[in-house]
Amino acid sequence: MSTRVLGTDGALPEGPEKRRAVEEMFDRVAPDYDRVNRVISLGRDRAWRARTVESLSLGPGARVLDLACGTGDLTRDAAHAGYAPVGVDISAGMLHAASASAPLVRGDGAVLPFASSSFDGVVCGFALRNFVGLAIVFAEVGRVLRSGGRFAALDAAVPSNPVLRAGNAVWFRGAVPVIGRLLAHDADAYRYLPKSTAYLPEPLALVTSLSAAGFTDVERVTMMGGSVQLLTGTRA
Ligand SMILES: C[S@@+](CC[C@H](N)C(=O)[O-])C[C@H]1O[C@@H](n2cnc3c(N)ncnc32)[C@H](O)[C@@H]1O
Repeated sequence: MSTRVLGTDGALPEGPEKRRAVEEMFDRVAPDYDRVNRVISLGRDRAWRARTVESLSLGPGARVLDLACGTGDLTRDAAHAGYAPVGVDISAGMLHAASASAPLVRGDGAVLPFASSSFDGVVCGFALRNFVGLAIVFAEVGRVLRSGGRFAALDAAVPSNPVLRAGNAVWFRGAVPVIGRLLAHDADAYRYLPKSTAYLPEPLALVTSLSAAGFTDVERVTMMGGSVQLLTGTRA
């Protein structure tokens, strides 16, 4: 069994190999995931997650799916906001390390184990780039959302400003793998994470892809100098 997500030449995996390698990698880093996350986001991830949940703008008790919930940070935030969340993730290790009191189930974002129109909202944190096919996942999100339901996806981004882009590269490609090696003993995984932003479509293509999956009011905003993006839309 492979214990690396990147190829020996540093190449990112694709297709079924990507699905397997990503699942294995998150199983591996799960026990240290939250701690490393706080450090590499300089503690800002809590505010980004709060804004993600806030952008759903749903009523109390709304059924919210946390897609690729990992250790359940967004699931907990959704519960605190008065929603009725459910989390789903492919990694048994991440689910095992999770501490949310809401139901968490194992499943693949490409074939969600939920009935059509069964949610009022879907949130997704730092996972878009980990899916094998974004169009398939957006279609699944559209299927499980009721008409008028809201989708909010938070993820990393590459700043458009060249100075900020250079600073971002120094932090994510230089410092983050070192932090990952020291705190999670897994430099490979924390080399993959910054590198994996390359999977994400350009901003316009990302917005177009969500619109093509049947979403209206699609918006993309950036935070932290453009190094984080929040994509939102309403199920038509
Ligand atoms: C960077 S973590 C983010 C976890 C959590 N959402 C957060 O905000 O901290 C990415 C998560 O996506 C999950 N994931 C990757 N591919 C998936 C898939 N095809 N279906 C469901 N979850 C997936 C991983 O197991 C991992 O928990």
